[in-house]
This record gives sequence, C-alpha cells and structure tokens, in this order.
Amino acid sequence: MLKRILIQLDCDPQPSTFDSVVAVDAGAEVLLRHGGVTPAAAVSLVHGGMFTRGGADLAATAIFIGGSDVEAAEAVFRQVQKTFFGPVRMSVLLDPAGANTTASAAVVAAARHLPLGDPQSAARHRAVVLGGTGPVGQRVARLLARKGLAVTIASRSLDRGREVCERIGRQVQGARLEAVASPDSAATPGLFRAAVEAADLIIAAGAAGVTLLDAAGRSCAGNVKVLIDLNAVPPAGIEGIVAADKAKMEGVQIVYGALGIGGTKMKIHRAAIMRLFESNDAVLDAEELLAIGEKL
Ligand SMILES: NC(=O)c1ccc[n+]([C@@H]2O[C@H](COP(=O)([O-])OP(=O)(O)OC[C@H]3O[C@@H](n4cnc5c(N)ncnc54)[C@H](OP(=O)(O)O)[C@@H]3O)[C@@H](O)[C@H]2O)c1
Repeated sequence: MLKRILIQLDCDPQPSTFDSVVAVDAGAEVLLRHGGVTPAAAVSLVHGGMFTRGGADLAATAIFIGGSDVEAAEAVFRQVQKTFFGPVRMSVLLDPAGANTTASAAVVAAARHLPLGDPQSAARHRAVVLGGTGPVGQRVARLLARKGLAVTIASRSLDRGREVCERIGRQVQGARLEAVASPDSAATPGLFRAAVEAADLIIAAGAAGVTLLDAAGRSCAGNVKVLIDLNAVPPAGIEGIVAADKAKMEGVQIVYGALGIGGTKMKIHRAAIMRLFESNDAVLDAEELLAIGEKL
C-alpha cells in the first residue's frame, strides 16, 4: 500500500504550520512542504509528483495550495492544472488563507436555516456580504450568487465593490450582484441601510477586529433571518455577536460567530484532504468545498 503523500505548495516564504497539521490529522502520511512557491517554480514540483507513481497509484499523491496571498495562490493553482496532461495528474485543493474553507462553512451554516438548496426559494432571498471585497467575502458572495440569491457586496469603496461584482459576474452566469458603499455617506445616502433592511442573510467578512455593522445598523435589519460574523478578533464585525455563538436564537434571528463557523470549516478542510486521496483527478475550489460541506 503506497503512503499518502501531500505536496504542500505555499506562496509564503514558510509553508503554513496550520495547513500541515490539518493535513496530517486528515490522513496525509508524508508531507512535502514547499514555501515561496511561484507558478514557474510549481512546474518542476508538480512534475516530480506526476512522473513517480503511475496510473491508479497517482491517487496516493495530492497537492495542497495555500498561503496568505490569495491571488498568488490562484496563479499557482492555474499553473498546476496547466502542468497536468491527460490522465497524468493529481488531485489538487486550493485554500489560501483558509478563504475557501471559511466561505463554504459560512454558506453551509446559512443553508441550515434558509432554503438555499432549492433554486426557486433561494432566488427569493437577498444577502449582504460586509467586507465583501476580501478573499473570504468574495468567495461567500460567489457561492451565494451561484445558489441564486441576490447578493450585495458592501465595501468602503464603491469602485472596489463594483470590481468584485464584475469579477463574480464573469464567473457565475446569471449572477444578481450589486455593490454598495458602506457605511452610508453623503455620496450614497441610505443605500447601505436599504440593503441591510432588505436582507434575509448578512455575512460579515471584514478584516479582523473591525466592526462593520453596529447595533444601530443591526436594528435596521428587520427582515434578516441569519447573521454570521466571521471575525474572531474583538470588537465583533457585527455588534452583539460573540465569537462562540453557534445557531444562537436572538429573537427571530439566528446568529453565528467565527468560532461557531470554525468547527464546520475544520471539518470541511479535513474532509477535503481525505477526498484528495480518493482519486487522482479532483480539483477542489470553493464550490467543491461547499459540496463537501453540504454532505457532512
Ligand atoms: N473563522 C475562521 O476560521 C476564519 C478563517 C479565515 C478568515 N477568517 C476571518 O474572516 C474575515 C475575512 O477574512 P479576509 O482575509 O477576507 O479579510 P481581509 O482581507 O483582511 O478584509 C476583508 C475586507 O474588510 C475590509 N476592511 C479592511 N480593513 C477595514 C477597516 N479598517 N475598516 C472597514 N473595513 C475594512 C476591506 O474591504 P474594503 O476595503 O473593500 O472596505 C477588506 O477587503 C476576517 O475577519 C478573518 O479573520 C476566519
């Protein structure tokens, strides 16, 4: 029986210890950890995996791509897939900065309380993603748009929000997306408030330690059924949510904090690593991680 080898390609100078530990816990028996990986450097690292074990044995070698620079990791992800040819390939998982596992865990949590599995029902729902321009927020928005929800990306910069809407619009056919500047200002009076008032779901994916929806803003969210705050560092991203909150009822609203989502994120991460070794052709991005999370 061949040992399960995970080739860890990390764009940071030092490969992530967190990702290594999760890989071992999920069953990787040998870890080949590489830091400072660029698309050019990835080619020979991938060849080394492709040309050693042949045929079905290639399922026992897999690739994890991570690092804190999400765009750099995505470039490596594209290069890795270009390097494969025909059946000579390995399964590959992309999770830079935990963005894909975190975003998919947030959507799994929301779907426990909202009918997101049914396209017609999902289409009747509106979501606001606070901090929607960051790596996690963009993926949350993409996953929700793919489910058919109308998604508002809130950003301090309307231009940045619009760029994200355009990017996701190119990836998701028929996506219903709009950007809104947050908080409201003289240039865009009342638009953020209106988006919050109309939302069924609000997910805060802002930077650590930044409050994006204070108590006054939250009081406008009269329609909202689920609020999720992914920021674990005080103060909360959504005032009043505690990191450990997990499906906590607050009146008619259900709230999750970052640690309340973290357990599902870890389960998705581990299940994804295990999935890598089931075949030699899995390509796991946010959508595939969401599918894994939905089956947990
Ligand atoms: N629970 C978990 O397991 C887990 C895992 C990974 C990440 N996280 C958390 O998920 C959240 C999102 O992560 P990320 O890496 O996507 O975040 P990020 O890139 O650091 O920030 C996301 C967005 O927040 C906005 N922002 C940044 N600084 C701000 C400020 N001072 N005031 C207001 N808005 C600000 C920016 O949007 P604009 O500039 O467009 O306004 C930025 O694009 C973070 O809180 C992170 O800690 C949780």
